[in-house]
Amino acid sequence: PAEIFAPRRNSRGWELNDVGELAALDKARAPWRKATWTARAVLTDGLAEGDARKVISPSDPSDIVGTVHEGDAGTAARAAGLAEIWDAPPSERAAALRRAADLYEEAHGEVFALLSREAGKTLPDAVAELREAVDFLRCYADEAERLSGDAPRGVIAAISPWNFPLAIFTGQIAAALAAGNAVIAKPADPTPLIGALGVRLMHRAGVPRSALQFLPGRGRVVGEALTECSRVAGLAFTGSTGTALAIHRRMAEHLDPHALLVAETGGLNAMIVDSTALPEQAVRDAIASAFQSAGQRCSAARILYVQEDVAEDLLKMLKGAMDELSGGDPWDRATDLGPIITETACKHFEDYARRAEAEGRLIHRASSTGSGNHFAPVLIRVAGIADMAEEVFGPVLHVATFPAGGLDAVVDAVNARGFGLTMGLHSRIEAVARRVEARARVGNLYVNRNQIGAIVGSQPFGGEGLSGTGPKAGGPAYLPRFHAPERVQSAE
Ligand code: NAD
Ligand code: ALA
Repeated sequence: PAEIFAPRRNSRGWELNDVGELAALDKARAPWRKATWTARAVLTDGLAEGDARKVISPSDPSDIVGTVHEGDAGTAARAAGLAEIWDAPPSERAAALRRAADLYEEAHGEVFALLSREAGKTLPDAVAELREAVDFLRCYADEAERLSGDAPRGVIAAISPWNFPLAIFTGQIAAALAAGNAVIAKPADPTPLIGALGVRLMHRAGVPRSALQFLPGRGRVVGEALTECSRVAGLAFTGSTGTALAIHRRMAEHLDPHALLVAETGGLNAMIVDSTALPEQAVRDAIASAFQSAGQRCSAARILYVQEDVAEDLLKMLKGAMDELSGGDPWDRATDLGPIITETACKHFEDYARRAEAEGRLIHRASSTGSGNHFAPVLIRVAGIADMAEEVFGPVLHVATFPAGGLDAVVDAVNARGFGLTMGLHSRIEAVARRVEARARVGNLYVNRNQIGAIVGSQPFGGEGLSGTGPKAGGPAYLPRFHAPERVQSAE
């Protein structure tokens, strides 16, 4: 829609350069340092049991964060059968979502502790994540009132990834609820506990259980079951492109042909640095784009294209900056690099780096060390994006060079690869930025800054091509997808 949001205020967050605020934050998280949590399916008619599994911290195998009781296909079918649309006036739905935002902020000590211990988030990442979750709740509450005349679709399955286990989890749920739907929320396999906390706070804020049920369980079990329930009117999915394609196929077989699929998926994101870029700035932003959150962001830079005239100097600086990154326990404020989410993913990156080394393509390995699933970031040489078979979802940055005058060809190669999530550009020539903006087929282009992060309401986020169906989350076109499409009235 053409409408733009009315001016609104996002969450203030916490000032991490203020020693007083830092001390207060440490005090708020301290009681949760050794706590344990339990997650189980929360259905309209009560809690459901399931196979119990220990949730272990990715940064310390001896830290047991809690237990999840995972549902099965029967639990999914039960949730779908019990779900009821939220038949309350939009202002009432909006008020409950705003109360939930307040409760999220009040619970910040517990939230930060869980994000660090269950999902491996550093404190700055945890703060950004809580703010984004809160912003989604308040933004979609405003949207519920703006679009108050529209009907819901019905039962929406919200299937989310582990890398933003609170923000994306909450954003999907809040949008679908704001539009009056019933939601079955499935957290990602590694992060059920933080999802359970979010749902607990939303229920406490007044969201009815019949409108919001919680369904922890394996993607291949409860996720697949949801794509086969005839009561499911749509899916809000964020995760890998491969999973989205599998879901799309199953939906085509099992669900109503009008069922909604909003899929936000992976990327092979390029950062392009031309010879006019400020090298210090480009290096600082490449480090943040590729290695913040240990590279586990959909937006992260996966390939750095550097103009060949400046490549040698820039790579020298980049290697030095990589060696300054400190790995460790994400709870510790000195840590830049938290863990990789699972041991399996960590081993996959080790194999990937070893293969590159054997082929003579490993340019550099950072000197960081750390506990748990620590992976020291690497730079790997490639000829171009066409050489990259898949998204490597970790701190692995590929590097290619391009000749003077070759920038358009780089953008064309990125377009041709088919993903379209983020792109970063470092250039001091305004006309170059305009040209790339016109040529690149990506959802979000970041110029002369890092290419991660988005701001609800003012910088909506989402991709095109293999990176997502759109519409962008946190933008004015998002919530209307969760309303029933207008029916064309027959003349008879
Ligand atoms: P994933 O695809 O493995 O899992 C995502 C969710 O789908 C999980 O809840 C999982 O349990 C579920 N799932 C898995 N198989 C399923 C199936 N067959 N049927 C139904 N559900 C199933 O992704 P992930 O590892 O959790 O997350 C990382 C991926 O997410 C990366 O590819 C990243 O780029 C992408 N991501 C995209 C965005 C975006 O906004 N575009 C944001 C965050 C993450
Ligand atoms: N959630 C995405 C990120 O922060 C936009 O990188």
